[in-house]
Amino acid sequence: MSRIFSGIQPTNNLHLGNYLGAVKNWVNLQKDNECFFCVVDLHAITVYQDPKVLRQNILAAAKTYLALGVDPKKAKIFVQSDVKEHTELAWILNTVAKISELERMTQFKDKSIQHKSNINVGLFDYPVLMAADILLYDTNLVPVGEDQKQHVELTRVLAKQFNHLYGETFVAPESLVNKFGARIMGLDDPTKKMSKSAASANNYVALLDDPKVAAKKIMRAVTDSGSEIKSGSGKPALTNLLTIYSLLSGETVKDLEKKYIGSGYGAFKKDLSEVVEEFLKDFQKKYNNISDAEVLKVLNTGANHMRGLAEKKMKVVKNKIGLLV
Ligand code: TYM
Repeated sequence: MSRIFSGIQPTNNLHLGNYLGAVKNWVNLQKDNECFFCVVDLHAITVYQDPKVLRQNILAAAKTYLALGVDPKKAKIFVQSDVKEHTELAWILNTVAKISELERMTQFKDKSIQHKSNINVGLFDYPVLMAADILLYDTNLVPVGEDQKQHVELTRVLAKQFNHLYGETFVAPESLVNKFGARIMGLDDPTKKMSKSAASANNYVALLDDPKVAAKKIMRAVTDSGSEIKSGSGKPALTNLLTIYSLLSGETVKDLEKKYIGSGYGAFKKDLSEVVEEFLKDFQKKYNNISDAEVLKVLNTGANHMRGLAEKKMKVVKNKIGLLV
């Protein structure tokens, strides 16, 4: 049994990449591990959020976890800002983190280009807060998509640097990145990852998209030159569509390739659009059945549990560095 921590930012609504790259794994992991799944609202505000919308998005993210199959009887679900020790530990880790290490972070570089007029200190410090999330709970494994691997690596570095200075305190965690589905690409541009902040809504399938609209997005998805339904190098669009198809249907890519020998892109996309439509209908039915009161109760229980663990760990950390406890 390992201790598992992961989180998603509550910005807009979550998309297929978040599900296939992250939450799908959480659902499997919760069976045999001690799991903590967080709505990382403090990370979200590194890009300006309308306060009213943010509040709704925090609840929507937690409802999404539940509707995708995270079970509050097996895993704890909570909101990052409900446990103040996350920011307290982030400050302490700031005194260990090197600016040069943070400057290497790909996501910071990308976001600095995307949000040129608001390259705030929080955006730069973002990976240190993420490290605090993880280290606060002696996490062993962090299930994430490919794009977050670098941040987990940095978390390991910070844990080791802290331990070296002050004595053994933190567990150095490992990232858990699936070979398959860890990088779902944009439907309109299969050379870039599917992203909530993409310029065009045709880039992603949001989990709360109208299922019919989502089906149309699949029909409109970019394809590769040629007409063969095959994954592999030189076929980024088909590799991506086959990956999505396989993960949603449970059929292997090999079987799907066989099934579509001799078919054109049209027939393949039509079937995939139906798979996506059905998946969204089923998800949204569950999502719409969860009340605000129900999700608030789950979040409250989660936060109470996590506060207990966080307070205990912070006493150890403060003691190590000579602060009064
Ligand atoms: P975020 O909110 O950008 O993404 C949440 C999760 O979804 C994965 N993901 C993808 N996987 C496959 N294909 C894609 N196109 C795709 N887009 C996103 C991400 O890799 C991630 O697993 N910093 C984190 C949130 C965070 C966190 C943490 C994660 C804060 N603290 C502690 C783990 C542990 C983030 O911004 O993820």
